[in-house]
Amino acid sequence: MAGLLENKVVIVAGLGGIGNGLARRFADEGALLILGDLDADLVSGVVADIDRPGRIRGVPLDGADEDSVAAIVKLAVDTFGRLDGMHVNFANTADAYLPGGVVELPLEVFDDVMRVNARGFVICAKHTIPAMIDSGGGSIVFTASADAYNAASTRVSYQMSKAAELALMRHIARRYGPKGIRANAIAPGLIWHYKFDEQPMPDGVVDQARARQMIKSRFGAPDDVAALAALLLSDDGSFITAQTISVDGGLTFRP
Ligand SMILES: NC(=O)c1ccc[n+]([C@@H]2O[C@H](COP(=O)([O-])OP(=O)(O)OC[C@H]3O[C@@H](n4cnc5c(N)ncnc54)[C@H](O)[C@@H]3O)[C@@H](O)[C@H]2O)c1
Repeated sequence: MAGLLENKVVIVAGLGGIGNGLARRFADEGALLILGDLDADLVSGVVADIDRPGRIRGVPLDGADEDSVAAIVKLAVDTFGRLDGMHVNFANTADAYLPGGVVELPLEVFDDVMRVNARGFVICAKHTIPAMIDSGGGSIVFTASADAYNAASTRVSYQMSKAAELALMRHIARRYGPKGIRANAIAPGLIWHYKFDEQPMPDGVVDQARARQMIKSRFGAPDDVAALAALLLSDDGSFITAQTISVDGGLTFRP
């Protein structure tokens, strides 16, 4: 049976804990993939691991740099002749582990988080939308966060940047929907992956998530996010746009 993304040309911007899972799932669903991340070794490792010669390419990417984003979009079009989707998944989490609030926040940390998460997502949208319109339409998916509408006492830069991503997503959906572009965001709760085994999370985050989740048996896994992302990038998701969809075991809910 054909996969959800059979021969769709998709860029994944940002690998790592969740991103590696996105790449694997999209490949399994039949996508033709271009993968990018700041970490060049990570990119080549994932490409080798998925091992689909002729169907997947990787390139070092700085998603906050316009030339770098333009280059990955060009690579997709030059390699596969079109662009059908992009999942923008990277994040700068520079204030995630800082104990302070806005009063203590070093402004250079705020600027850097916004530069990557808010401005970087703008750059990705700016360069992928025209290529997708030229291809007859397409789908953009952002990995945002439950933190976009949380009220936490720390990581205010990260929270603000994730809220900015949602505003951008809605703008794209409204403005470019008539040209065949869909845009949606996934708001994960705690998605457990290999990095958390290496670097523990700040005090209280894990316990808080466990306490607030409605599903108690486990935390999220990268494939929980990837399963939804594949749907949103696929033709089965063709009537879904301008949505923020939570994948968080009931950590948050909105009427
Ligand atoms: N894991 C969770 O519990 C969780 C929860 C909510 C939201 N998220 C979101 O999910 C996404 C993935 O997070 P993760 O947990 O897998 O973290 P991660 O650190 O494993 O992945 C982030 C990746 O982004 C890359 N990156 C950073 N800056 C970049 C740039 N300028 N250009 C290109 N790549 C860059 C990093 O190299 C890294 O590989 C992020 O957007 C994060 O905010 C994660």
